[in-house]
Amino acid sequence: MTKIANIDLDPTRIPRHVAIIMDGNGRWAKRHGLARMFGHKQGVTTVHQITETAAEIGIEYLTLYAFSTENWNRPKEEVDALMSLLVDTIAKETPTLMKNNVRLQTIGDTDRLPELARQRFEECIAQTADNTGLNLVLALSYSSRWELTHAMREMAHDIQAGQLRQECIDEETISAYLTTRNIPDPDLLIRTSGELRISNFLLWQLAYAELYFTDCLWPDFTKEEFIAALQDYQHRERRFGKTSEQVQ
Ligand code: IPE
Ligand code: IPE
Ligand code: MG
Repeated sequence: MTKIANIDLDPTRIPRHVAIIMDGNGRWAKRHGLARMFGHKQGVTTVHQITETAAEIGIEYLTLYAFSTENWNRPKEEVDALMSLLVDTIAKETPTLMKNNVRLQTIGDTDRLPELARQRFEECIAQTADNTGLNLVLALSYSSRWELTHAMREMAHDIQAGQLRQECIDEETISAYLTTRNIPDPDLLIRTSGELRISNFLLWQLAYAELYFTDCLWPDFTKEEFIAALQDYQHRERRFGKTSEQVQ
């Protein structure tokens, strides 16, 4: 096995797009006798580390589920604290994104974010727009059903306006109406914290992703844990409906 940056990975089988449901911050805090926010703060350190590792390995797209549509239903004080953590984090992390040639994008209903968070994201997206390395995609105020509902409304509108013909709608058309347009479908989905569910994340796009679940809580998810997930992925046989013989 050849190595990438001294890591035991097959450079010919690096997933192009890794998506992560970063879960378990609250439980991590509880285990340490701390308030939930400390778990979220510690989770940001993991985001930093995993983003650097993904960039180092040469992954093209890393999508992180940071805040779901359903997360708006959490207690107001947690939502407010998460929003200010976002604002602080973007400002702090932008130099590292520049250093690592990372380009930031967001998906989701970002109009729902507080004005200051929206502004900070816009600045960071503009500043990193010409970077050519890893594409870091943050899913914020995102849920798949929100995205699909929004897409269907837009399609209906465009049909009515005569800009889209019903008989021309195919899978590519649908993909093009999603917020992930121009982003390839994930090859690997990782979820931390032992929960075995998708929680309204990229339902359309994950159709053929390999799934990897770990009991590790997000704040404890290290570079080594990430590499273990990638190594596991490299041993999967992706058949896309074909037989094993056909894909070998
Ligand atoms: C994930 O950690 C972070 C967000 C959803 C914002 P949680 O906050 O869901 O942590 P648990 O699931 O309560 O442990
Ligand atoms: C999923 O985690 C959303 C994010 C990681 C942002 P949750 O903790 O909100 O998921 P459920 O509610 O347990 O499924
Ligand atoms: Mg959770």
